[in-house]
Amino acid sequence: MGFTRTTRNQQKRQSLIHYLLTYNDEEIDRTHNQHYVYREIWSDDFSAPVIDLLTGGVNVLDVGCGPGTWILELGTKYQNSNFKGIDVFPLYPSTIKPQNVSFELHNILNGLPFEDNKFEYVIMRFMMFALSLKEWESVINEMVRVCKPDGWIEIMEDDLVLHNMRPRTGLLMKIITDELKRKGVETVITPYILDFLNANTELSNIVNRKKFIKLGKGDKKGELHLESLKWGAKSLFESKHLFENGVATYDELIEDFVQEYKEQ
Ligand SMILES: C[S@@+](CC[C@H](N)C(=O)[O-])C[C@H]1O[C@@H](n2cnc3c(N)ncnc32)[C@H](O)[C@@H]1O
Repeated sequence: MGFTRTTRNQQKRQSLIHYLLTYNDEEIDRTHNQHYVYREIWSDDFSAPVIDLLTGGVNVLDVGCGPGTWILELGTKYQNSNFKGIDVFPLYPSTIKPQNVSFELHNILNGLPFEDNKFEYVIMRFMMFALSLKEWESVINEMVRVCKPDGWIEIMEDDLVLHNMRPRTGLLMKIITDELKRKGVETVITPYILDFLNANTELSNIVNRKKFIKLGKGDKKGELHLESLKWGAKSLFESKHLFENGVATYDELIEDFVQEYKEQ
């Protein structure tokens, strides 16, 4: 007869996911679209100076890869490199993908399931709705741990800040930011990310690149970004993790927000 003895110290505490968006086909489409909008805005898929590394052949990790749009694009372009994507939901393709791309189901709140110094390049994008402030810090430290000493880590986020807000946009933003704050989400996250990066003594050469986009008509990037924000706002509402009491006018507010910027 066998038995298992478990003490408190031996138990690895499992952290619960508290992602505020959802996991369905519509969300996969939204995330694909978001990738191409941001590629248009930045005129590229990444900012770190890694083209030579990727061309020569390195190991790359995408943390919270979603449907894998970024990794599938990069894997196709840089065939000497190996790309690993991890996500807590299986949004990514299981069979139709380049041979140098693989995916793994994993909750990053439990750390990253890799040994130290495994990757030359570690990227994480659009995780604002997945992490509390404390979790940001530990995930960043994990990214540093699994990245080689002379490698690169890259983090990309979009702060929820709009300028020149008209009344309906102001109301919509207030409803969203109040609700997100209630759920512990920092809506202006990039200053904290910089603080966490600066606090990690293993990092050097920290570069912060920002872009401001004029929303609305007359600018292709602004028009694309406005549509992407609209889709994001709808997705937040439809995920049902927010607005438990319902906001009857939420859909109308989103339409008014788009209209207000189109008129500017
Ligand atoms: C907005 S999507 C970003 C997808 C991708 N990074 C991109 O740039 O297109 C956020 C992703 O984080 C994933 N996620 C949320 N919480 C997570 C967790 N605790 N561990 C791993 N992935 C998580 C979600 O499933 C979702 O795919």
